[in-house]
Amino acid sequence: MKVLVIGSGGREHAIAWKLLQSARVQTVYVAPGNGGTALDGRLHNVPLTDFNVLAEFAVREKIALTVVGPEGPLAGGIVDFFRARGLRIFGPTQAAAQLESSKAHAKAFMARHQIPTASYEAFTDAAAAHAYVDAHGAPIVIKADGLAAGKGVVVATTLAQAHEAIDWMLGTDGAANTLGVQHNAGADGQAQPRVVIESFLEGEEASFIVLCDGKNVVPLATSQDHKRLLDGDEGPNTGGMGAYSPAPVVTPNVHAKAMQEIILPTIQGMARDGVPFTGFLYAGLMIDAHGQPRTVEFNCRLGDPETQPILMRLKSDLFELLMHATDGTLDEVELVWDRRVALGVVVAAAGYPLTPRKGDAIDGLPAEAADGMVFHAGTELRDGRLLTSGGRVLCATVLADSVKQAQPRAYELLQTIHFDGMQYRSDIGHRAVKR
Ligand code: AMP
Ligand code: GLY
Repeated sequence: MKVLVIGSGGREHAIAWKLLQSARVQTVYVAPGNGGTALDGRLHNVPLTDFNVLAEFAVREKIALTVVGPEGPLAGGIVDFFRARGLRIFGPTQAAAQLESSKAHAKAFMARHQIPTASYEAFTDAAAAHAYVDAHGAPIVIKADGLAAGKGVVVATTLAQAHEAIDWMLGTDGAANTLGVQHNAGADGQAQPRVVIESFLEGEEASFIVLCDGKNVVPLATSQDHKRLLDGDEGPNTGGMGAYSPAPVVTPNVHAKAMQEIILPTIQGMARDGVPFTGFLYAGLMIDAHGQPRTVEFNCRLGDPETQPILMRLKSDLFELLMHATDGTLDEVELVWDRRVALGVVVAAAGYPLTPRKGDAIDGLPAEAADGMVFHAGTELRDGRLLTSGGRVLCATVLADSVKQAQPRAYELLQTIHFDGMQYRSDIGHRAVKR
């Protein structure tokens, strides 16, 4: 069988790497792919992003299954586009992907279905938003409604920060647009800036990702991301500087609550609303001191970098799983996991997250080992030379018996790697080590 993976990040490199392990998969194409998928002789990069051209490629090459990595093409309706042409594709439809692409939509959905989350209100009017913040006080969380590549959330610890966030997200000066927020349409169909303002939740975060076929749900192994740039969870928010699986904060009790109170009501609610969810559903959880999980956000895809450790632990055949998911027969599968933990450390470019520098030459990549793999993200192969081409460049991921053993092994794996300005955290897994 031939498979097509859409995307170019570390998550997509890991998906392609895992699909190659299936006895039924002969060829994996990655569109557009990165330097890592270009270097792997068993993977084939195709420089395509346009839906029409991708669909033509899938028809011509007799692609058995297309797997979509990032939120952009999902929110843009690639699944609807492929399905309308009779092509098998795994991911949510554009309507279902609104759980991620509109925070106001997701919050209204959770309120309607009594799914535990922070209390909130949505605003298009700046004066009303300012008044709401004054009435509620800080800390408080301000979120741009549309997709913003992780830059649309401000956790305001002071009222001044909250007012400033409202101004740039709702301001008429277009600041939110300059920063890449994609505004959703209002009632009149015109793009309109909107914010969600919600109460601040205390606790520890975890990534809870499940595989859905519209009605059946199979939870993946749990994981925890590290969103801040610097050690000790300091510095600006990023797409994620490292992750490990499983997350000990998700105890069996928390797991059961997350399934019963968040995941199942969401999948059932979507089906009842006439928008069944097929794809990976990622609930970002905040778990309080009493073990109560609340939804911080939904993503309609796998997490990056969570995917890298999760897929290193998955022993089941990913291709078979996704075929079941697109057939609606996930009730027939049981996932098998490596009992070891996996831990991945992201190596980012100089200037990340605000102004990542591109074009630095990368040297000293280690060979793939049975317990270690360096997944590529922002890399490109140009004239035979591997160069940085994005913010998060690599993710050194290892398997070991405990987080304590995985930590030094991951850092050992990236020891020989060098490029100018490279930055990474030295404490990935610190919460699990302390437990
Ligand atoms: P999001 O893009 O919605 O996941 O938000 C990015 C990050 O902001 C989350 O991973 C949390 O660390 C933080 N955050 C978002 N919403 C809240 C909240 N209501 N309370 C506390 N922290 C939050
Ligand atoms: N690592 C967080 C995310 O993928 O959204």
